[in-house]
Amino acid sequence: MIQGKFITFEGPEKSGKSTQARLLKQYLLRKGHSCLFIREPGSTSLSEKIRKILLNKKNNHISHFAEMLLYMTARAQLIKEVIIPALRDGKVVLCDRFVDSTIAYQGYGLGIDINLIKKIGKFVTQDIKPDITILLDLGDKNSLFKDNHKKDRIELRSEGYHKRVIKGYFLLSRRYPKRIKVVRVKDNIFSTQEEIRKVINKCLLKK
Ligand code: TMP
Repeated sequence: MIQGKFITFEGPEKSGKSTQARLLKQYLLRKGHSCLFIREPGSTSLSEKIRKILLNKKNNHISHFAEMLLYMTARAQLIKEVIIPALRDGKVVLCDRFVDSTIAYQGYGLGIDINLIKKIGKFVTQDIKPDITILLDLGDKNSLFKDNHKKDRIELRSEGYHKRVIKGYFLLSRRYPKRIKVVRVKDNIFSTQEEIRKVINKCLLKK
């Protein structure tokens, strides 16, 4: 039985992370686990304010380094205010994005030194690491560039940028194969969810 477990969801824009995390939460609740769903950046009052700053396309003056530190600041607050207390209470914390996002988006995407991001990440998270990370792989289903929805400051970046982010994620999954499990996104959200549940059952519930 799992107790106080930390599950993160990662992947490119429009990969359905939050939908899948919410479906997993329903499943775990039915199994009798106490669960919490949160997102990054966000899920505390301060972190939601930082999210607004980071995603507002008018804020195109933010330097790469300041951007990375703002994501880390939002995370520092979330760890202290929400994640550590929930894990101490024995809850399963389902988090939409975490440090891997900063490595993929600000490290591989913007070119900030990956080891520096890891060091700052270790410091702000008080070295709390996910027990398991579900990395959603869209394959050739990536719709960001075909889609005309209102894009935020990060989504508006070039196709090259987003390709570097995806490549970064795969490098991470190869570097940490025990923690990061790649799940291919299927046409049907419930088929994708089935794969995620298999991974969670295998890696966490039977421990
Ligand atoms: P979301 O739309 O998946 O909620 O994430 C918000 C955006 O912020 C998304 O474009 C990914 C980006 N992001 C980073 O660039 N670095 C980070 O560390 C995190 C957590 C998100």
